[in-house]
Amino acid sequence: MSLNRIKFRKLQNKVASVEEAVMLIKNNMTVGSSGFTRAGDSKAVLPAIAKRAANEELKINLITGASLGQDTDGHLAENHALLKRLPFQVDPVMRKAINKGEFYFIDQHLSETAELLQNGHLPRIDVAVIEAAFITEDGGIVPTTSVGNSCTFAEQAETVIVEINTSVGEDVYGIHDICLSGKYPNKRPFLVNKVDDRIGQQAIYIPTEKIKAIVFTDIPDSPAAIAPPDEKTTAISEHILNFLKKEVAAGHLPKNLLPLQAGIGKVANAVLTGFINSDFENLVMYSEVLQDSTFDLIDSGKMTFASASSITVSEECFNRVFSNISKYKDKIVLRPQNISNAAEIIRRLGIIGLNTAIEFDIYGNVNSTHTGGINMMNGIGGSGDFARNAYLSIFVAQAASKNNTISHVVPMVSHHDHTEHDVDIIVTDQGLADLRGLAPRERAQVIIDKCVHPDYKAQMQDYFDRAKERGGHTPHLIEEALSWHTRLAQTGSMKKQQ
Ligand code: COA
Repeated sequence: MSLNRIKFRKLQNKVASVEEAVMLIKNNMTVGSSGFTRAGDSKAVLPAIAKRAANEELKINLITGASLGQDTDGHLAENHALLKRLPFQVDPVMRKAINKGEFYFIDQHLSETAELLQNGHLPRIDVAVIEAAFITEDGGIVPTTSVGNSCTFAEQAETVIVEINTSVGEDVYGIHDICLSGKYPNKRPFLVNKVDDRIGQQAIYIPTEKIKAIVFTDIPDSPAAIAPPDEKTTAISEHILNFLKKEVAAGHLPKNLLPLQAGIGKVANAVLTGFINSDFENLVMYSEVLQDSTFDLIDSGKMTFASASSITVSEECFNRVFSNISKYKDKIVLRPQNISNAAEIIRRLGIIGLNTAIEFDIYGNVNSTHTGGINMMNGIGGSGDFARNAYLSIFVAQAASKNNTISHVVPMVSHHDHTEHDVDIIVTDQGLADLRGLAPRERAQVIIDKCVHPDYKAQMQDYFDRAKERGGHTPHLIEEALSWHTRLAQTGSMKKQQ
């Protein structure tokens, strides 16, 4: 414990053990906790809730920024500690419990949770649990590696528990830009006109009497697992980089492109890494997560500024960045997720959005969340916030997987997250389809020609040709449109038996 991390001295008598602090949380309460893509999550109090729930009746609604690390979501799920969970998760144990219907999960655009809370459409937060690096002399809570929804939770809760995490240095102060938006009809605009504009404060300010307990931890964030680029992700990355080069040559994009958004994962990582050896310079990022490749781009001099809501990186990258954070302070900013993902800013800045699909269909509709039409994978995350509002919305997927038994291009998606109206470019390892300016029948032919795996091309062309004979603006054989999914479920492959 390091009391000098509580610089607002009156709060020093709030130091508590985790066991004491967790008793502030009662059955049926709604808890709002920091944590966004494994970064800056509660490492003490949330795990302690899971432990309590193993031995007593304790069920809560849990709202976070996004996913948690430390397998916390899994422990909460296996100990039946949840009534409702939102807005995103990536935990395999939790995923199973959600799909069994053991508790409710709301899969929500990450920009919307704060707004729904502020306007009274979600249960009011009873207890906020906020990871912090320290508390300033004037009582400000300085977040660690993410901002997420923390300021909204802290503002709304009657009881706030602060988890001071000494694995993050106090020199993190200055990387955050925090403000609330206000309620409708008096909501203020977020005046971020350039990615590096700051519009808020460097800490979360709430009446300090709401802070009822302060606990200490030194557990670092769960590191991001970085999968090295493989043949498919490299092919996807090359298609995108070549396309962007052509767009610059045609005068459609400036030489340093437009602000980049990239979902997490191996494809986004491969594309961003591809920029390092490209001719693009002075790149900027307006995204929701800063990952290893962001810092590689900054270190290589290719990227001048990156804005997001969290830093989710490997252990090596964490040590590189946080042992020398002053080097990055004028190059990064972390914002609340309702600002990092705000429609108005994304549209104003003209973002190039890059997100991953589970599957997409011949008209460009995208499924990011469900397998087989019914089972939740992770959630929509911020992909919808960016896809709908981006200047250029790119979706990627491998053309086929699992020994080519699954085609990720299908006649009709089994679940819709992003409609054809929100999707500009579709890319697989086979090629890139530019759908801008194309009508449905044109889109389908381009997607079949460029993106479908060779094992499925004839089968898809046959479907489309027969659908066209029947007619329609968006031709389909409705009775057959989902047959690729039923065939996969029944035979283990989407391929038609010859
Ligand atoms: N039927 C059954 N399973 C299917 C399937 C289908 N039609 N399509 C995909 N799958 C399976 C894959 O085989 C894979 O299973 P495995 O884990 O057992 O290998 C799994 O679904 C995920 O597919 P994969 O290609 O490995 O996904 P990924 O790691 O590239 O992630 C998303 C893709 C879409 C799940 C992920 O990007 C995501 O959650 N996106 C939504 C959130 C988001 O976009 N955030 C962006 C802002 S940060």
